[in-house]
Amino acid sequence: MSGLLITWEGLDRVGKTTQLRLVADWLRGEVREVVTVREPGGTPFGEKLREVLLREADAVSSLAEFLAFAAARAELMETVVLPALARHAVVLMDRFIDSSVAYQAFGRGVELDVVQTVNRAATRGRMPDLTIWLKGEPFGDSEGVDRVEGRTPAYFRRVEAGYRWLSEQEPERWVVLDARQDPAVIFEAERARIRQILIQKGGDPR
Ligand code: TYD
Repeated sequence: MSGLLITWEGLDRVGKTTQLRLVADWLRGEVREVVTVREPGGTPFGEKLREVLLREADAVSSLAEFLAFAAARAELMETVVLPALARHAVVLMDRFIDSSVAYQAFGRGVELDVVQTVNRAATRGRMPDLTIWLKGEPFGDSEGVDRVEGRTPAYFRRVEAGYRWLSEQEPERWVVLDARQDPAVIFEAERARIRQILIQKGGDPR
């Protein structure tokens, strides 16, 4: 397996983007190529879908919403992520397949089987080498009031349960970190784990 794929997961606004940036800045001094992407998005097609999805999510049926996330994912994998991994880059992703399991399957009731099968097709089976779950409050910073209407505390608790289930399925892939800690402390934990993986791979992730 070539390259290194690291993903960040967690509820909205737990600090994933900040952590991804800290890790990217550090890794740029360690390896030849670092690529950062966010989901949904990262391609012209995906960014257009992102606009629609973040505005309309939950206003469309859950299956349609999932398939739109998956379409953006397929395009991103095909044109950005898989080519970068083939060049032995380290790819850092702000959300990936696990967001669909947590938000669409556990959160909105799309059949788990459907989500997993379509995810596998969209990613061509490439799983993350490491997934960092920044575990925060079971709902955003305000009681059920969210930019997407209808996302209640109960919904976020289901999403959280989805992440818990996923991390229990594949404990070796997941690192669970308390998002309420100081960002510098979280970064140190991430750096220690990523260093270990790089050492196992002998430096650059070939
Ligand atoms: P974003 O603005 O990136 O939020 P955050 O900073 O919290 O990551 O919005 C992404 C939203 O899209 C977020 O609410 C989670 C949702 N999402 C899904 O529901 N399913 C998915 O597969 C992905 C990638 C994201």
